[in-house]
Order: sequence, then C-alpha cells, then structure tokens
Amino acid sequence: MRIDILTLFPEMFTGFLDGSLLGEARRSRLIDVCLTNIRDFAEGVHRQVDDRPYGGGPGMLLMPGPVVSCVEAVQQQAAVPGHVVMLTPGGRRLDQAGVEELARKERLVLLCGRYEGFDDRVRETLSPDQVSIGDYVLSGGEVAAMVIVDAVARLLPGVLGDEESARQDSFSGADRLVEGPQYTRPREFRGLRVPDVLLSGDHGRIARWRHEQAVDATRSRVPTNLSPSRS
Ligand code: ADE
Repeated sequence: MRIDILTLFPEMFTGFLDGSLLGEARRSRLIDVCLTNIRDFAEGVHRQVDDRPYGGGPGMLLMPGPVVSCVEAVQQQAAVPGHVVMLTPGGRRLDQAGVEELARKERLVLLCGRYEGFDDRVRETLSPDQVSIGDYVLSGGEVAAMVIVDAVARLLPGVLGDEESARQDSFSGADRLVEGPQYTRPREFRGLRVPDVLLSGDHGRIARWRHEQAVDATRSRVPTNLSPSRS
C-alpha cells in the first residue's frame, strides 16, 4: 500500500515512521509512506498557505489553492489514484470497521489541516472522505494521520508477525468485542493469581472463558454520550 501524507509539518512524522512496526514494514516494502509539504504549492515570496476567515472569526484557515494543487500533484505521482482522506474533527468518527475499510484501499492520501481548518472549497473541489479520530480538537491533522497510518499498517498482510493477532484484537471479528484480561508470568503477582482456567490446558474451556470475559469487558465499557449515567 502507498500512503501519501500532505502536511505543513512533515518533520513531525520522522520518528514515528521509523518506529518499530512501521519502520520494519517500510523497510520490507509492505508499505510506502510519502510526505509532501503543502507549503511547496503556495504562491508568492511569502509562500502563504493560510488567511483570515471572511465574515470574521478567530484564527486562520488553510487557503484552497495550495491544498488543492498539492493533492492534484500528489495524485499524479502514482498510477493508482489515492483515496483522499481529509482529517477534520467534523468528519465521520473512525472505528475499527472504518480502519479495515481504509486498509483495503490500494492507496491513501491523508490531508492534514492546521489552524481553524480548511476553506470549504477544498471539500467542494476534492469531495474527500472526511474523517475524525474522536470528538476532541487537535492542533492539526498530523496526529490523526499517524493514528490512521498505525491502525491501517498493522492490518496489512505481513506487517504483524502473527496474522492471527490482528484478527484477535479488540473490535475485530464479526462481534467487535473488546479483548478481556490477559496474563503472562509470573503466576502470582502481589497476591494476584492468574485465573486457573488459563493454566488448565483445556483449549475449549479457555476459548469459552475468553469469550465470556470479552462480552463482560465490552458491556462495562465507558458508555456513549447518550447514556444517562454520564455526568
Ligand atoms: N484535526 C483536528 N482535530 C481532529 C480530530 N479530532 N480528528 C481528525 N482530525 C483532526
């Protein structure tokens, strides 16, 4: 898979892209991540990319010219056109099913905003898939893009050593349960013992116990915004 990241701050990605899982996936050519600086598509001596909103209001907006030119230029860099994702807090909220959908694309183009967001003509011109990683506001789309790259990369065949481990992750599989508790050595830590069933060697019992734990863990998760118990 090829992932293009369009940003005003490409340097934010350096440590992240070299990190263990992703660095290895890139070196093995399972994933190709290309960074492009939106400012390279700005015009004038000042290479301006942002300006004040018409009608007043706080902050600055990304101008449509440099952003659209950048996306168009990047799209020309490979034979397959990329699926354009605009990172924005107002987009559809990402979940594991959404990550799986993105992981099936041959190429992604992740468009990172800054300041107060994009001039709306970026959306009108490009009709991007607008994605939010959660109901909170980040200073820009870069961290959201990293979240997507990380979550997508681990689903690509060959990236995780053990194919089964992605399938067993929380939110994966038809029932989308979160994982229940897991244990490693020692058998006892500060008086807390590993549940006997896990030491029983009975794989059927272990699988049933794990499923029950996953159901309980899923039920007791933090409730949604609409839940009456939330203060
Ligand atoms: N940019 C700013 N906040 C964001 C969020 N929550 N998700 C995606 N992009 C963003």
